[in-house]
Amino acid sequence: MRYIVIGAGAVGGTIGARLHQGGHDVLLIARGAHYEALKRDGLRLITPETTETLDIPAADGPVPARDDDVLILATKSQDTIAALAGWPSDLPVVCAQNGVDNERMVLRRFSRVYGMCVWLPAQHLEPGVVAAYAHPYSGILQVGLYPQGVDDFAEQIATDLGKPSSGGLVARAVPDVMRWKHGKLLGNLANAVEALVGHVDGRAAVVERARAEAATVLDRAGIAYATPEDERQVRGHQADARPIEGITRGGGSSWQSLARASGSIEADYLNGEIVLLGRLHGVPAPVNEVLRSEANRFAREKLPPASMPLETLVALIDERCAAGSR
Ligand SMILES: NC(=O)c1ccc[n+]([C@@H]2O[C@H](COP(=O)([O-])OP(=O)(O)OC[C@H]3O[C@@H](n4cnc5c(N)ncnc54)[C@H](OP(=O)(O)O)[C@@H]3O)[C@@H](O)[C@H]2O)c1
Repeated sequence: MRYIVIGAGAVGGTIGARLHQGGHDVLLIARGAHYEALKRDGLRLITPETTETLDIPAADGPVPARDDDVLILATKSQDTIAALAGWPSDLPVVCAQNGVDNERMVLRRFSRVYGMCVWLPAQHLEPGVVAAYAHPYSGILQVGLYPQGVDDFAEQIATDLGKPSSGGLVARAVPDVMRWKHGKLLGNLANAVEALVGHVDGRAAVVERARAEAATVLDRAGIAYATPEDERQVRGHQADARPIEGITRGGGSSWQSLARASGSIEADYLNGEIVLLGRLHGVPAPVNEVLRSEANRFAREKLPPASMPLETLVALIDERCAAGSR
């Protein structure tokens, strides 16, 4: 199989690197300065254990397809549609992304769609460079057919990703990947909080309000989600994020979008998913609506991450809650 990783950033770069190290045929798809750096210097993968420069083939857009190609989509959700333009719609697509709407968007055009629930703390701030913080495995991945089920192909992907010689990923095929991804979505509601206010004392209370609101919405919508306890059981003691000397992990993927002043952020598909479901099912979601809209404003105005005082965010949320939100 040839694994074509579309969006070779923090997650895609790490997965592509681990597959390449496991002896698989890999092609990284990137753009701009990152693509130029990959082509010129290779991919520098930094982990708590080592720094390696890997000579992995790279391209900046669709290439002639082979029968054995599989697309691993690892862009942020807001880039999903554009990133898949030009790729043949009979290729299988694995959505290695947070959020729960990518698979549905992709299924409109591609008939074979797989979800992947990705636990893989990583950072990509500099062209050509990816830091993967988890140890001893870089990531724990669960893959399954969308909307549910497991087939031979999902098993094959899990086997390839988790191959011991890949030396860095744990992967398994699961029949209910979207239940895992809805559980992960609850965790990712914190992304916008971290991006806006950083790691200040008191942010946990805001995160808790967003999650409690989201759980009410998912319950009303009748959507099943994995609990933090389920997630702990899967992750067990298999891996933990560790510091890497010389490379501070400023924050998660949304924080990194602001740090790179990329102009966009994933909040419409994280907090915004809860807002959308709330509107569809008649449950107000004011906390997530403020997080969604403020994160977007920060991205649009290219404001630095963690530059909103916590008190400002709490005041905006309280005001919105008092006004009621639909
Ligand atoms: N980072 C983490 O720790 C982490 C952990 C678990 C899950 N996730 C999830 O994984 C997904 C990817 O996140 P990430 O942090 O890896 O993002 P990322 O570092 O920004 O990587 C995504 C890459 O895709 C590129 N891209 C976007 N559109 C493209 C296109 N049309 N053609 C080619 N390249 C394109 C981006 O380029 P530009 O920079 O030019 O936009 C970027 O290099 C998200 O859903 C995120 O929530 C992230």
